[in-house]
Amino acid sequence: MAILAIETSCDETAVAIVNNRQVCSSIISSQIPVHQQYGGVVPEVASRQHLEIINDAIAQALDIAQVTWEQIDAIAATIAPGLVGALLVGITAAKTLAMLHNKPFLGVHHLEGHIYATYLSEPSLEPPFLSLLVSGGHTSLIHVKECGVYETLGQTRDDAAGEAFDKVARLLQLGYPGGPIIDRIAKEGNSQAFSLPEGRVSLPNGGYHRYDASFSGLKTAVLRLVQQLEKQGEVPVADIAASFQQTVARALTKRTITCAIDYGLNTIAVGGGVAANSALRESLQTACAERNLRVLFPPLKFCTDNAAMIGCAAAEHFSLGHTSALTIGVQSRLALGQVMKLYES
Ligand code: KG4
Ligand code: ZN
Repeated sequence: MAILAIETSCDETAVAIVNNRQVCSSIISSQIPVHQQYGGVVPEVASRQHLEIINDAIAQALDIAQVTWEQIDAIAATIAPGLVGALLVGITAAKTLAMLHNKPFLGVHHLEGHIYATYLSEPSLEPPFLSLLVSGGHTSLIHVKECGVYETLGQTRDDAAGEAFDKVARLLQLGYPGGPIIDRIAKEGNSQAFSLPEGRVSLPNGGYHRYDASFSGLKTAVLRLVQQLEKQGEVPVADIAASFQQTVARALTKRTITCAIDYGLNTIAVGGGVAANSALRESLQTACAERNLRVLFPPLKFCTDNAAMIGCAAAEHFSLGHTSALTIGVQSRLALGQVMKLYES
């Protein structure tokens, strides 16, 4: 089953052709250099960039995969959540192609894409499993019961994990996006140099929440540490980056393992940009090996935004007979629990 998928929810213009959990082609054109000068994504600039690139990206994806329109079974695009103007570019292209070539159309929830990205490295994976979804906008522990049926068991109370990486990188003046830069610099630092707060979420009974996370206190602690070290002289950036990264990895690992054990889910699939983080990968692998749990990650290049993961999610729905109406519109926000509203079957 060959799906042509488009992803334009934020600052990546991506098109892929996916066939039975295999990537036939994947074009990812990053706008990062364009947005870098502003220190973050500028929505209007993102939409214009998508518009300039989308047609070439579609042509390239077809060319590399060496498929004709007759061989494509369905056309999919990210429909929610994301920047409305950016989403509109991908959705409009997908719907137009679906009409032109008389193919079924599927609007895909971006987070379902991140959940199913692991299928690209582990094609035999099937629900149920626990998804640790860690991106720039989300940090959630999701019980994937079956395609389209999800229960969020834990989440961040404030900043998402990727957002915390980006904010800490900004205050260390390392540039944007912060995650990959901190990951690289941390390799030269000592992760035990500074003790930072893991950000427990307190409960009224005096205990703390077992699955929820909070990263804003950690970010503030790094800010105070930097201010204090600045007064004393030089700021050991690599040590701070390594200590911060290790704290995030430890916090996420503890909550994920506790949740997996409590719910009897012995497979954990990680997804989202922060799934590329080396400390998180190592920490989860070690903890899972000790407890006889299986942890799976997408291939590195499919952790951050891409269209192959959207193709994977679309294929799951399409195989169940789900398709979207051509009248359906983009949504800047949509809870994962509402995902079936995107389909008529
Ligand atoms: O999944 P993604 O590409 O976009 C969203 O859907 O949000 O995630 C982007 C986030 C950014 O915050 C970026 O800093 C972070 O993922 N990220 C990383 C790494 N690579 C990307 N964070 C930590 N370590 C990395 N190696
Ligand atoms: Zn994403």
